[in-house]
Amino acid sequence: MSGKKIIVKKNGPLVARNIDSLIDGNGKSLETRETMALCRCGRSKRKPFCDGSHSEGFVDEKAENRCRDRMDTYKGKRITVYDNRGVCSHHRFCVEELPSVFKRGERLWIHPDEAEPEEIIKICEMCPSGALSYGFEDNERINKGVTEDAKITIANEDAHGKNGPYEVNGDIILVTDSGEMPESEKHYTLCRCGKSKNKPFCDGTHLKHK
Ligand code: SF4
Ligand code: FES
Repeated sequence: MSGKKIIVKKNGPLVARNIDSLIDGNGKSLETRETMALCRCGRSKRKPFCDGSHSEGFVDEKAENRCRDRMDTYKGKRITVYDNRGVCSHHRFCVEELPSVFKRGERLWIHPDEAEPEEIIKICEMCPSGALSYGFEDNERINKGVTEDAKITIANEDAHGKNGPYEVNGDIILVTDSGEMPESEKHYTLCRCGKSKNKPFCDGTHLKHK
């Protein structure tokens, strides 16, 4: 076990352990420590680090009306795409990069026969939240990230709106009180604005609070 982990503190910060790559929204590496408390309430004046402001009333309950975990299957002739709407951070990468397959606004929105499998695999691996995964005839679901390097990147403001999530890559274990796991430990997104209905995961709510 690598020992790299993020511990979600009840009504408090994300405590990152043994993670030596923390990248800000402009691609700049920030100085790291063995243990770092990262703000997830959106109120810190020392972002991305916690300054204790969460004690002024931040509550990390999930909302009843959140989008729930649910695995949808879109079977094509050569590749199957799986989608868990419950963890999508609405990065829009899929609909912008491969609109022939990922069709914004349609109820059955994924069309796996409209592109080469390699193109679809690339999008699934680049999906920051891990909502998208894929498989073939043997029905084994593959959910890999774009890199094996363990790192936390703050989503770029131009691409992802203000206060976008922490994008986690590599094998970084998420530790929660409830035992809840991310869709894939290879890549997932954690709320940084404090307003997600599905904390600790990002659900794109920051986009409504620009
Ligand atoms: S998080 Fe993934 S599934 Fe959601 S919009 Fe972005 S690329 Fe698409
Ligand atoms: S989580 Fe501590 S200041 Fe935001």
